[in-house]
Amino acid sequence: MEVVIVPDATAGGELIAETIASLLSRKPDALLGVATGSTPLPIYQALAAKVRSGAVDASRARVCQLDEYVGLPVGHPESYRSVVLREVIEPLGLSEASFMGPDGAAEDVQAACEAYDKALAEAGGVDLQLLGIGTDGHIGFNEPCSSLASRTRIKTLTEQTRVDNARFFDGDTEQVPRHVITQGIGTILESRHPILLATGEGKADAVALTVEGPLASVVPASALQLHPHATVVVDEAAASKLKLADYFRATYASKPAWQGL
Ligand code: PGA
Repeated sequence: MEVVIVPDATAGGELIAETIASLLSRKPDALLGVATGSTPLPIYQALAAKVRSGAVDASRARVCQLDEYVGLPVGHPESYRSVVLREVIEPLGLSEASFMGPDGAAEDVQAACEAYDKALAEAGGVDLQLLGIGTDGHIGFNEPCSSLASRTRIKTLTEQTRVDNARFFDGDTEQVPRHVITQGIGTILESRHPILLATGEGKADAVALTVEGPLASVVPASALQLHPHATVVVDEAAASKLKLADYFRATYASKPAWQGL
């Protein structure tokens, strides 16, 4: 995988927004897989600024969700559907029709998971998948020991993830749903270009295990080692435990500009 070390979260957001802009110029109706959480927000802000300034035309872009809580009422402000509508779809000026995600309120969750995998395939597959990383190494909501071949399915959150996400639920871990639907690791690996952004010291251990540790389901993000075109963008703090940081810096510094990410 390619590791790019940037000074801070804003620079990471700008770099990835540039990559999305470049994809949209080549493929205006690209299917963009978006992640939730705090980390990707600078990407969406930078991309929305490009749309507003006319630097990028995102009007034909399509957007799909990575994961979703199970059991939140439809329209709950912290359901990931609501978050993506608020943080991505509206700022980019897209319509809800260009956006798809798994149905976390479905009565038959299993059927909803299978339907979502099918919908992604029928849409031609995900062109660029944005990812965050959990402090426990999860991507999407694939918690430690998720099958590396997994498809979209229901998962149970670890206590650590529920504690991490309590900040979106008035600081109350009990309000964080226990169950989620997430694209599987196998599903994520089918995207044409997964880009993981990690910022802050709290992610340094998970990043080091992902990039320099062995491929292991106990660190789900390490599955990106299997992808022929995976990019990991990290700020200095999240890169602080990488033994090969200097090599990654030198490699990126001498990369031909035309290659992009
Ligand atoms: P965060 O979440 O960006 O809010 O830290 C990342 C994740 O859980 O994937």
